[in-house]
Amino acid sequence: MNKKHEILLPRAIHAVPETDKRKLNKQKVAIALLALSAAIFVWIRPVAYGVQKTGTFLGGTTGFTGYHCNQVPSLVPNSSRLNDSQLFSPKFAATAAKRLSQAIQIQTVSFDNMTDLVPANPDASVHLPFLRFHAFLENAFPLVHRHLFRRVINKYSLLYSWQGVNSDAAPLVLMAHIDVVPVLPETLNQWTHDPFSGFIDKENGLLWGRGAGDTKATVLGTLEAVEALLGATDGKYVPNSNIYLAFGHDEEISGYQGAKSIAKYLQYNLGLAGKVGLIVDEGPAFGQIEDVRLATVGTGEKGYVDASLTIETKGGHSSVPPKHTGIGYSALAIAALESQPYPTTLSDNNPVLGAVRCYAQHSKKADPFIKWAIENLNHGGRQLLAAKLAERDVFMAALLTTTQAADIISGGLKVNALPEKVTTIINHRIAVDSSLAGTQEHIKNVLLPVAILHKLNLTITQFDDPEKIGFEYGITEAVGKISVAPAFGQGLEPAPSSPANGDESRGWDVLEGTIHHVFDGKEQIIVGPNMMPGNTDTRHYWGLSKTPTNGNNVHTVDEYIEIGSYIKAIQFYHDLIRNWSE
Ligand SMILES: *[C@@H]1O[C@H](CO)[C@@H](O)[C@H](O)[C@H]1NC(C)=O
Ligand SMILES: *[C@@H]1O[C@H](CO)[C@@H](O)[C@H](O)[C@H]1NC(C)=O
Ligand SMILES: *[C@@H]1O[C@H](CO)[C@@H](O)[C@H](O)[C@H]1NC(C)=O
Ligand SMILES: *[C@@H]1O[C@H](CO)[C@@H](O)[C@H](O)[C@H]1NC(C)=O
Repeated sequence: MNKKHEILLPRAIHAVPETDKRKLNKQKVAIALLALSAAIFVWIRPVAYGVQKTGTFLGGTTGFTGYHCNQVPSLVPNSSRLNDSQLFSPKFAATAAKRLSQAIQIQTVSFDNMTDLVPANPDASVHLPFLRFHAFLENAFPLVHRHLFRRVINKYSLLYSWQGVNSDAAPLVLMAHIDVVPVLPETLNQWTHDPFSGFIDKENGLLWGRGAGDTKATVLGTLEAVEALLGATDGKYVPNSNIYLAFGHDEEISGYQGAKSIAKYLQYNLGLAGKVGLIVDEGPAFGQIEDVRLATVGTGEKGYVDASLTIETKGGHSSVPPKHTGIGYSALAIAALESQPYPTTLSDNNPVLGAVRCYAQHSKKADPFIKWAIENLNHGGRQLLAAKLAERDVFMAALLTTTQAADIISGGLKVNALPEKVTTIINHRIAVDSSLAGTQEHIKNVLLPVAILHKLNLTITQFDDPEKIGFEYGITEAVGKISVAPAFGQGLEPAPSSPANGDESRGWDVLEGTIHHVFDGKEQIIVGPNMMPGNTDTRHYWGLSKTPTNGNNVHTVDEYIEIGSYIKAIQFYHDLIRNWSE
């Protein structure tokens, strides 16, 4: 997950599993990825059915409009062909863990200052680990490299194409990234095991190191799954549709060189725009909402825009100042924005509603108010529910609204000179129910009265098309002007949301059925949607399929993964490939 966009997941759906709590020294800052296969971000194209987000009643127990959280049956791949329990033996687990450990030892780190290095300077030593990583994969997964076509994209990213029997069938894309975030030198001594040692703790079944969760385990896990499939069939296994394994190299610094180039390749060179059936990427983990064990699949992502607010006024000497300087006007504008926050909403489009619905439908002790609200969404329940959820904590509140944060301000140079230009950068994470245009409109509505009151002109650049002026207000006697524009280039619309429970989408059903098959224990896991507050590499893939989603994770000290979970993850990818083919 990209650091720039990271915020923590809502507490309710981001719980460290009990077993881990027992195993771990509680003092340590450690976050477990229970199983990264639950950590999925999907992007599903509804196959064969239209998406029905609202309106039609699709069954279910409680009379919802459209959505429900009924679970599809466990989807077991055709067992006459291959047998999971033979494949995933203890010997296999030991070998897979060793390979993951080796992968962690190769320091494929993305630093913020690397954005401009690629691909201008292919020999830059910072990228040598990426080339070593490619060579390592080639050695570790010989069957993959014999039967799939590997294409190096933009020097350090990898795209594997696996030719299916039926080239018209909707392809499956499995995404992950090979870069990891740096380890801060000053935190090195806080790690239990060296972050790049890939230490295997056999006794507790844990594997430690940077990238163990985010997301070398996904890269290696996907390759292990394919290698195992090919190994068990003497290389004869052929999927039904084409399958692509897409591993970007700069996700942690926004993926502009990696994922973006891979997506372009898939879209323009392979002609897959709008044709991909299912895209799976990193996502949120298992969570527990009271008695409901929830595997949350990210089906939505908030949008993003940094707005610069510049106030220009006449200069002059501070001994004869006007009532407000540019800094004073900036303060008035920021105060106006902060005192009129964006509305809290909870439309059918918001995956959080799906997660809450799953809780209301499956918990034996569901909060009666939430149950009532879910059943009466369009009869007064929706706003009350939104308000109640927003009260829970800031993380949940952030998922239900567009957030704004004035983060950078600059202006003024000398104590005896009036500042002629003052610029504030305000970061926005746009609600799934809103848009770049909606954010622009809100800012206009708040700032126009300020402009009128103080005789300032107001110009707003169009957020979704920075070439154009979106709004202009001017008066001849103006004492200055306010300009608002997207900073650092263009913003990002909220992701179109992916189908989830009740949408009758083949993508969702295959995914959910596979999760049940691999992860249901004595108790059934509930699979439901959730939202990713930040943005992952999937943003570059929106053109390929109809909809996207979500993630969690681990940029801190003491990153590790449970080896057992890792093996489950491999099995998940393995079975997903087979189920998708069947
Ligand atoms: C399962 O595999 C068997 C043997 O390869 C084959 O005959 C059968 O058609 C398969 N069934 C499905 C649903 O793919
Ligand atoms: C899978 O293999 C194991 C071990 O050989 C065997 O016990 C089990 O019955 C097999 N399962 C199926 C579904 O064939
Ligand atoms: C980039 O940043 C890293 C970490 O701060 C530093 O070690 C490296 O020298 C920097 N590289 C360049 C080219 O500035
Ligand atoms: C404000 O807008 C008016 C009308 O477009 C223009 O005449 C005036 O020069 C502007 N003043 C400033 C300070 O930008």
